Amino acid sequence: MSFRFNFGVSEDGEDVACSTTPTGISTLDCNGSGTAMCMNEENASDASIASAVAAAPFESISLTIPKVSSIVVDAIFYKGQRLWKRQIDDVQFQLAQQDSMDGSEDSLVKRAMAEDRNASDVIKGVYEGGLKTWECSIDLLSFLVDHQVELGAALHGGRVLEIGCGTGLPSLHVLKSMPDTYVCMQDYNKDVLELVTMPNVLANTILCPSTAGNGDTLHADSDTEACEIDIDFRRTQALFGADTDDVIGKRDVPELTVDEANEADARMLQSSDIRDCCEFVAGDWANIEHELRRQGRENSFDLVLTSETIYDTDSYKSLHDLLVCVLAKPKTEAGSQDQKAPAALIAAKSIYFGLTGSVLIFKQYVNARGVFNVDSVWQSGGSMPREILRLTWK
Ligand SMILES: C[S@@+](CC[C@H](N)C(=O)[O-])C[C@H]1O[C@@H](n2cnc3c(N)ncnc32)[C@H](O)[C@@H]1O
Repeated sequence: MSFRFNFGVSEDGEDVACSTTPTGISTLDCNGSGTAMCMNEENASDASIASAVAAAPFESISLTIPKVSSIVVDAIFYKGQRLWKRQIDDVQFQLAQQDSMDGSEDSLVKRAMAEDRNASDVIKGVYEGGLKTWECSIDLLSFLVDHQVELGAALHGGRVLEIGCGTGLPSLHVLKSMPDTYVCMQDYNKDVLELVTMPNVLANTILCPSTAGNGDTLHADSDTEACEIDIDFRRTQALFGADTDDVIGKRDVPELTVDEANEADARMLQSSDIRDCCEFVAGDWANIEHELRRQGRENSFDLVLTSETIYDTDSYKSLHDLLVCVLAKPKTEAGSQDQKAPAALIAAKSIYFGLTGSVLIFKQYVNARGVFNVDSVWQSGGSMPREILRLTWK
């Protein structure tokens, strides 16, 4: 089943979820004006794809530097802070250059992005929308900044899990602003982790434009900034250090062999402790829960973050089961009022038009399960309200 979220590019070039042009079986409009539609031929194929594919298996994926010469990132500004996020056009450019399709589930995600910018944004059970940034993740970012002091104290040396991370902005903020914190990023799709989540982690850490000697081009574009991070230049630096300018001078362009590039990537990753600070896991929530239990990692996350993941009631059981599995138990008896108590923060639109999930239905589900307290800790107001829920152990 396919749903179109339509993340039209805004005038400033952002691909944050914004409006909808309905074409799917059901339509989810991020601004709420969508209408449920009838299935048409275009998405009949999506439906058969979804029914043919088993829920994504658990995969643990090592942080790697993308095998491209450069990546283009946009600056995301929030509360006086800035994060770098890979442009969706740049992802499509990379995909367009990759000509081999192996017919696996992952290549369906790649094909959807490579062939058609307006491809359905969610293909249920195949691709769950993680390549693009959804607006509630920005709410979660702001909430993290506003509560940085309490969260920082609660988290000191702790562990954070972002469920359904997609572009992973909340995780990036934690990695940047709470350096002693370990962050696990989960997405349904391995492709999403490799194409956007990892590049974003790298762009905000070891490949951060502000750390470039030179080679990265920055340009201001109204109130946004875009930047091309020249990874090949960084690779050359990693291989040749102080002799970089010399090497580049001798070769017209700093073209590296595959072996040189691999060696450079290994050196860049080894030169920082980034791989000790974060991990990446792909798969369906039910499979993630099963694997984390198998690994004996129950109740090991002090803070769980998730944004725009409660739009489908079919997933509530597996999402709730995962929260029960991963959230750490409180160390004191102070209960949910204690700001240091382990908590899950869930950012979502109050209503998802044309889809089954909503904040109210999710709260009712959590209450019916009777495991967690659920409080609304932030509301946007306006005609299409968004909220942040806080779940704590009863
Ligand atoms: C609409 S995207 C939101 C991405 C990101 N959190 C944001 O706000 O920009 C929904 C995310 O939830 C995750 N997701 C949805 N259903 C899932 C499921 N059943 N199992 C695992 N992940 C799922 C996907 O990884 C996807 O990235």
